[in-house]
Amino acid sequence: MKVRNICFSILVMPFLMIAQKGVPEDFLSDTFHKERRAALRDKMQKNTVSVFFANPVRNRANDVEYVYHQDPNFYYLTGYKEPHAVLVVFSDMQEKDGKSYNELLYVQERNARAEMWTGYRLGVKGAQDKLGFDMALNGKEFLNSEIDFMSFDKVMFDDFKDDYRDSDRNPADLHDLISSFKTQVGYYVIDSEANTEVDLQLDKNREGNLPNQRAKIDVKTLSKLMGGLRQIKTPEEMKLLTKAVRISAMGQIEVMKAMKTDMSETEIQGIHEYVYKKYGSEYEGYPSIVGAGANGCVLHYVENNKMEVGKDLVLMDLGAEYHGYTADVTRTIPANGKFNPEQKAIYDLVYDAQEAGIAEAVIGNTGRTTFNAAMKVINAGLLELGIIKSLDEQHMYLPHGICHHIGLDVHDLNDGSAFEPNMVVTIEPGIYIPEGSPCDEKWWGIAVRIEDDILITEKGPINLSEEAPRKSEEIEALMRQPSIFDQLELKKLD
Ligand code: GLY
Ligand code: MN
Ligand code: MN
Repeated sequence: MKVRNICFSILVMPFLMIAQKGVPEDFLSDTFHKERRAALRDKMQKNTVSVFFANPVRNRANDVEYVYHQDPNFYYLTGYKEPHAVLVVFSDMQEKDGKSYNELLYVQERNARAEMWTGYRLGVKGAQDKLGFDMALNGKEFLNSEIDFMSFDKVMFDDFKDDYRDSDRNPADLHDLISSFKTQVGYYVIDSEANTEVDLQLDKNREGNLPNQRAKIDVKTLSKLMGGLRQIKTPEEMKLLTKAVRISAMGQIEVMKAMKTDMSETEIQGIHEYVYKKYGSEYEGYPSIVGAGANGCVLHYVENNKMEVGKDLVLMDLGAEYHGYTADVTRTIPANGKFNPEQKAIYDLVYDAQEAGIAEAVIGNTGRTTFNAAMKVINAGLLELGIIKSLDEQHMYLPHGICHHIGLDVHDLNDGSAFEPNMVVTIEPGIYIPEGSPCDEKWWGIAVRIEDDILITEKGPINLSEEAPRKSEEIEALMRQPSIFDQLELKKLD
């Protein structure tokens, strides 16, 4: 961090001090994280070790960083929300200097000066007291750690991303921690073509500098083990995830009431996000998508800058993030409050396809089963409407899958297994007909996606986002209701 604008600090510091009083407390408990580490340990083979690194700090521009977001695996296992940290989980008890332990957490040091700029740090004591780690240490101690990685049958970690950087200010930043770890285990890059764990290639940077010894590195298994854990939500997680989903549904409801033809995509996004904040959601779980007309055909459209939505359908795919857990909810509504015949034909078809997909969100099925069910409905409907002439064209108007897990990630980690109770998945069919498509031009520019968040249970699927209307008639009825935003009039700027 370079020298900062002092005005910024003067304005922000008192606010930060006030904000320290009365903060939310309904986060995951330290017991949750501890149990998750125990659950991981149960899945690990004997004499193995798992190593996790905190996410990098990401630069937005010059001396401004993006708001920090912890790596979801790291957060799941520790509750630690700061950067520059390492977690080591051992399958078995280790003995050293009369101490026994099976996990080590290395955290960033407390530093009064740095904390004055970027906020409070937990430090070692905080990690012990607040996160319940018996063995919390300063990051610096990892640099020359006495962990004998060579002695384990497997050293498991996720392969490194390349977007972290070295800073002179912090001698134990993520760059130093990873660099030291690479030396400690004799890491070099895996040949992705050979795709085996034994067939290793020298990292180009280390050419001619082959370490004499190399630990038994495994960069594949850990994400499977973590996926197996994270795909099944505990009751504590369900509270947060359900809240995120309900907040997102509330955003959709308020926008349905507030929508006007002269609104901009940006403004509509703002209403959703205002509702999120009002309910205490800290962030959006992914960049909000608000696309009117043909903009909805861009699957991950994020410009959201059309100045008037007019009479088009507006596709709104947004998710509130509540204490780390993110929803993923899409509604598509007519900006003028009434579907025209073409819009309604496509909308109702997607609705029927979604119903078919949701009905298949049952124990033992997979995302593929839900896709097949939805696709069958869409194919029949598109044929009937004359939009496709044969099944050869079937993927033209629905080019994506319709189901993924949600949780700490919007596309949440999983191990690919069939549906089990307490998994939460999306069901999100769509039809997108860009301008110039080989069908009657009356269909051009229509894009519809409907996306709900579904809990898998013994008794069948439960739609967690059902509060936001989905049926075309229900949407039209809600759009006729008055809105708290009807009175909102801001002074015009020159
Ligand atoms: N919002 C991203 C997705 O629906 O998968
Ligand atoms: Mn989704
Ligand atoms: Mn989505």
